[in-house]
Amino acid sequence: MTATPVYHGDCRKIIPTLKPESIDVVYLDPPFFTQKQHSLKSRDNSTEYSFQDTWASLDEYRDCMREVLHESHRVLKREGSIFLHCDTTASHHLRLLLDEVFGAEYFQSEIIWSYKRWSNNKKGLLSAHQTILFYSKTADFLFNTLYGEYSPTTNIDQILQSRSRNEHGKAAYKRDVEGNVVLADAKKGVPLSDVWHIPFLNPKARERVGYPTQKPIALMERILAIASNEGATVLDPFCGSGSMLVAAQLNNRASIGIDIAQEAVRLSEQRLEIPIKSRSAVLEDGTASFFVKSPIERRILEAFDAVPVERNNGIDGFLKMYIDESPIAIRIQKPHETLDEAAQRLLGATQARHCKYLILVRTMTENSALFATDTIARSRDNLLIVDSFDVVVQNWTQQKTLQINQ
Ligand SMILES: C[S@@+](CC[C@H](N)C(=O)[O-])C[C@H]1O[C@@H](n2cnc3c(N)ncnc32)[C@H](O)[C@@H]1O
Repeated sequence: MTATPVYHGDCRKIIPTLKPESIDVVYLDPPFFTQKQHSLKSRDNSTEYSFQDTWASLDEYRDCMREVLHESHRVLKREGSIFLHCDTTASHHLRLLLDEVFGAEYFQSEIIWSYKRWSNNKKGLLSAHQTILFYSKTADFLFNTLYGEYSPTTNIDQILQSRSRNEHGKAAYKRDVEGNVVLADAKKGVPLSDVWHIPFLNPKARERVGYPTQKPIALMERILAIASNEGATVLDPFCGSGSMLVAAQLNNRASIGIDIAQEAVRLSEQRLEIPIKSRSAVLEDGTASFFVKSPIERRILEAFDAVPVERNNGIDGFLKMYIDESPIAIRIQKPHETLDEAAQRLLGATQARHCKYLILVRTMTENSALFATDTIARSRDNLLIVDSFDVVVQNWTQQKTLQINQ
């Protein structure tokens, strides 16, 4: 990947120097018309970063943004898209401007970036979201569908069974002529919605550099994932600390950054030299505490590329792929249960659910003797017992110790 150019100057002067139809994604995070100066100190308190968001009038702000949008439209490829980040201060004005420049028919989504906040210093509701307006240049825009996890309240049958409308127009589980439930196709998860729960950068986040209104890389990556493929070129005309440029670099996309502030350009260049991303939990359905699965269980399910199932006593998840047109259920052995009990619970929960094949993940070494129990022996043909990473390592280290002591 070539080095990322980060230009210093007014983007209204610099974008016109870029070739027409040369950009796959434009991400704009301009001043939001807050009529304030935004300032913040760097992590080590050595530098104060700031940018002006003060305007003589709303018209002046709109004229500036209109110019940037026209230029963005010119440089976008036919398959390209624009993402304009804003908040309630001016989102309604910007939406009309986008309709004017891109055409209302190319409006794709109003993405709500939702995050947790704990304090409110104004009368009224705590504001906990920002808006990203997503427009495409043409109807042939590139779009990659992403899938999120099922909500913890999703019933296991909703995941497994096909649904159709009954004679009263109500959604109901499909049944064949013999009255048996019909299996749905292999599930990849829930298609990503336009509400994105991505944590705000906390004061201790590794990637936080202390630039005012710095955006999380996880949020930038989501935009790149839906609207571009590897090798694409992204333009960020208000790049600030360079979050989008870093996200592009981490995901094999080329990018071009522009900022009117010299220290923002310097900071972006520094971040690009050593790109750092925080390990933040990005969950589709709210906060981590909402989930009953432990982080270890979630990691095991991720390793199997499985869809987690919450609120079920026997099944922890399903592989995203089917074998023999049948779902494959997984159970992770719990700390309080023997391997045999885990197998019984898995078999009990899957009997009526068309699962021909089952996976049981053994998480405890002390139960190795139970491999030959009746339940497991009987279901040997369709039950795969896999050791968790911890068990593999523990067994291996025990054997090594034995060998050394012999
Ligand atoms: C909201 S901040 C961008 C924050 C950035 N997305 C990040 O994650 O750090 C807006 C930036 O736009 C820059 N800016 C304002 N007017 C500009 C202009 N006309 N051309 C280029 N940059 C501009 C400001 O200096 C500021 O860094």
